Amino acid sequence: MIETIGVVGSGTMGIGIAQIAAQNKHQVVVHDHSENQLSKAKEGLDKILRRLVEKKRISDSERKEIINRILFTSNMGDLWPCGLVIEAIVENLKIKHEVFKKLEDIVSENCILASNTSSLSIASIGAALNNAERIIGIHFFNPAPLMPLVEIIPSIQTSKETSELSKSLITDWGKTVVLCKDTPGFIVNRVARPFYGEALRIYEEGLADFATIDWALKELGGFKMGPFTLMDYIGNDVNFAVTESVFQAFFYDPRFKPSFTQKRYAEAGFYGRKSGRGYYHYENETLNNEANKDEKLGQSILDRILCLLINEAVDAVFMGVATPKDVDLAMTKGVNYPKGLLQWGDEIGLEVVLGRLQDLFDFYGEDRYRPNPLLRSMVKEKKKFYN
Ligand SMILES: NC(=O)c1ccc[n+]([C@@H]2O[C@H](COP(=O)([O-])OP(=O)(O)OC[C@H]3O[C@@H](n4cnc5c(N)ncnc54)[C@H](O)[C@@H]3O)[C@@H](O)[C@H]2O)c1
Repeated sequence: MIETIGVVGSGTMGIGIAQIAAQNKHQVVVHDHSENQLSKAKEGLDKILRRLVEKKRISDSERKEIINRILFTSNMGDLWPCGLVIEAIVENLKIKHEVFKKLEDIVSENCILASNTSSLSIASIGAALNNAERIIGIHFFNPAPLMPLVEIIPSIQTSKETSELSKSLITDWGKTVVLCKDTPGFIVNRVARPFYGEALRIYEEGLADFATIDWALKELGGFKMGPFTLMDYIGNDVNFAVTESVFQAFFYDPRFKPSFTQKRYAEAGFYGRKSGRGYYHYENETLNNEANKDEKLGQSILDRILCLLINEAVDAVFMGVATPKDVDLAMTKGVNYPKGLLQWGDEIGLEVVLGRLQDLFDFYGEDRYRPNPLLRSMVKEKKKFYN
């Protein structure tokens, strides 16, 4: 039974993780090297908890208990009683190594050391430890208290105990846990790439504008937001950086090739909502185009992006990254897809998906459209992912 949870880094992710742990009755130690950031984090959490009281989600005495369970400290030594420490500092391997080396001298031998990294391999982080059996990836989504999904990523060094304890703890916190191999982008950030990449490609080919592609995915596909609205929401700088890092990490597999359009938008400072302009204008919305609501065009856009997404989901299963169930859970709970992609593939008919991919592959002759071998064999054997 782990009583005290440590969080290193009190930024966006760290403070959210600390809130979850404290709401689940753990003592929590939040460490950050910046005093200024620590007081900002404490103030921010206090505001969030007060809002939860206003909305009657928690009582005022619960709010006080939650905040009193958390120690905010710039002294790393205060992490000594922790049974699990989750690191959520800047995404830089060298700095993470320094932190994990120091941590190993502070905590007990049994303490699990986890990273919330989005893009570094867990194996590379664990390499800094004397006992790397205790390293694990525990990847929350933003905002951590609200997003149900957590990807748990054991690396090749991780012991079974570390993996099982982490999984049961995070499940007890009420999260939907998926287990995932230590591969670039884990599940969500890998499988979701075509949602952005193929939308950008369709735009670059001049087949449709941003508004039309967004309309097709939202209205015909049932996605909460179209890809361009979502990229503007995430920030083109952030989304482009993730795409680029996944592309590099996959040894430049053309399936993950970033788009010049997005690069230029990021370079120009057209980040999206936060900068007032992205693919859309947010300060003067009259400048935005109206969608072309031609059903045939819309359906062809949706079919193309969806087939590539399904192909990517199939690849994650084929390469042993995760089980079909976990791949579907990851996309519905991590990025709110209206349906699991493999279930969607079953419903459309895997032979139909394969046929569409094969047509694209024949037409373009590009690797990004190559149908996955598992998809081919399942169609041949008339199999489905679910019965
Ligand atoms: N922001 C997201 O949407 C998101 C989602 C999932 C995972 N992640 C990952 O979570 C991690 C943190 O991201 P974030 O967005 O919360 O970052 P952030 O910039 O909001 O916060 C990072 C915090 O770490 C602190 N810090 C930096 N170096 C430190 C050190 N050596 N010792 C102690 N504290 C240190 C900083 O003062 C800052 O408060 C990254 O690895 C990121 O890839 C981010």
